[in-house]
Amino acid sequence: KGMSILITEGYEEMSKKAALMVAAQVTIRPSSVLGLATGSTPEGMYKELVAMYKQGEIDFSDVKTFNLDEYYPIEERNPQSYAYYMKKNLFDHININPQEVHIPNGTAKDVETSCEVYDKMIEAAGGIDLQVLGIGNNGHIGFNEPDVHFEAGTHLVELDEETIEANARFFSRIEDVPKRAISMGIRTIMHSKKIVLLASGASKGKVIREMLFGEVTPNLPASILLLHNDVTLILDREASVYV
Ligand code: GLP
Repeated sequence: KGMSILITEGYEEMSKKAALMVAAQVTIRPSSVLGLATGSTPEGMYKELVAMYKQGEIDFSDVKTFNLDEYYPIEERNPQSYAYYMKKNLFDHININPQEVHIPNGTAKDVETSCEVYDKMIEAAGGIDLQVLGIGNNGHIGFNEPDVHFEAGTHLVELDEETIEANARFFSRIEDVPKRAISMGIRTIMHSKKIVLLASGASKGKVIREMLFGEVTPNLPASILLLHNDVTLILDREASVYV
């Protein structure tokens, strides 16, 4: 065990393979705890999962989910929120119990307590069985931005200018992108039993290379995954040019 790298032809095959991993997890353990990601990268995977569910190939009725992150502050009904994204891309289309869906609270008044409660809920669920990750251009996972140390638990983050710029494409104006977010921490991610990281497109090639061939450093948060014992990278050709 350690890190496996699966190189696929393109976005569609990457998405299909990722969905098959999630389906296998839920098949082997129907009460699995899934860690879920947002962003453009996993959209295709969610589409595949919805299709598999509609074909009767997966049953989500006992599954629990914990999302990696959410903007702060943001209302759930705001179409830019990750809560909204998850409903639109997955939860509205499958038989998951809404009580078992967890996303950091973008409207929490007491953020610190809300983060502590989030970590306690993950712990009480027995930790994450399979964590799905994307990767930011600056090497962030979830919203764990480059820093001088790894942040352990769920925490409030000041987003990097680069991240705000990258995410501006989802908003009508760059000024509308929230400057802060709540993110699951590195300890929780590293305690996941299995991790699958997806990356697609030429723009991710460089960061994938840095992650695989550079040093493990909080300055490139994804680099810590080299220390996990069960990580699968699913890359498409373009994201794997330097591998
Ligand atoms: C976002 C999310 C991450 C995601 C990353 C890459 O800001 N917080 O969880 O993995 O950036 O996004 P994309 O898949 O759209 O490139």
